[in-house]
Amino acid sequence: MQGIQKQIRQLLDDLNGLLVAHFYQKDEIVEIADFSGDSLELAKKASFSEKNLIVFCGVGFMGQSVKILAPQKNVIMPKIACCSMARMVSSDYYDNSIALLEKYGISKEEILPITYINSNADVKAKVGQMNGLVCTSSNAKKIFDFARKQGKKIFFLPDKCLGENLAKTDALKSAILGIDGKEKILEADVICYNGFCSVHQLFTPFDVEFFREKYPDILIVVHPECRPEVVQMADFIGSTSQIIQYVASLPPSQKVAVGTESNLVNRLRPLHNGTKNTFVLSATIPECPTMNETNLNDVFEVIKAYKNHRPYNQISIDPQTADFAKKALDRMLELS
Ligand code: 13P
Ligand code: SF4
Repeated sequence: MQGIQKQIRQLLDDLNGLLVAHFYQKDEIVEIADFSGDSLELAKKASFSEKNLIVFCGVGFMGQSVKILAPQKNVIMPKIACCSMARMVSSDYYDNSIALLEKYGISKEEILPITYINSNADVKAKVGQMNGLVCTSSNAKKIFDFARKQGKKIFFLPDKCLGENLAKTDALKSAILGIDGKEKILEADVICYNGFCSVHQLFTPFDVEFFREKYPDILIVVHPECRPEVVQMADFIGSTSQIIQYVASLPPSQKVAVGTESNLVNRLRPLHNGTKNTFVLSATIPECPTMNETNLNDVFEVIKAYKNHRPYNQISIDPQTADFAKKALDRMLELS
């Protein structure tokens, strides 16, 4: 363990704090975290933990989710980096989207909104106010199936790819707000907001074809934020945790190309008999810039400042927003 890693662990022991890290964080942070996980696991484990201080290494919406679910906890983040997808939608954009749907003749009562957890608290609150739900990549299908049973049109935000991928699984009609015309929107069962993850957009059908041509037996594994045309070609689709479990279940000799963030992919498996069997499904390095903003020094400084009663980067959410956002998160947790 590096010196700074030891110092961080010592500070955490002194303060009885919990350090959690998303799988996309740098290796040196994941190494010293009390636990790593996908978005759902981190939200649950951190908010249900007995510890009062949560040091969250990830992107802004993740720390917010813990604070919403467990408002009594002190949640600090070494960097409050905003996931670029979460930044694509705000409460104003949400209101404008609903207004556009109403202009097309779809009433609010006919719409059930589902927001991907990669959205900020104000957007989750809007969804909560309309009796909607949150989903994550690991429970999206379950939440989607529940929502479908309510007999309404689904407004899925902000990730158009995840929304379209869910619609395709059940052969439902989908349309993208702001891209598709009124007629297509009116016909759609699932109306998607026009947001996306810039990292997962990097993976293309060409990448899949390239690896399959080079290694005919290779398995293609992708995150559901990937484009629908890539997801359709994959052998396995899952959240970050599900990808890790799936790859761990394969024989070490099985070649696999993985379409998700590079920090996670690079630590999936060691070389097998000196041969590389695990590949990033892209010629470009799919690094999430905001996840990679956090370094060990940031972690050390934010905990030290907290210990010295000069806290910064503490997550706080106005109570009314938190209240409605919690409704949408709780509905998800009841189902997952
Ligand atoms: P997971 O919930 O699968 O960890 O995904 C979070 C994320 O931001 C993927 O880009
Ligand atoms: Fe957001 Fe994409 Fe980074 Fe995930 S990989 S945190 S969706 S920008």
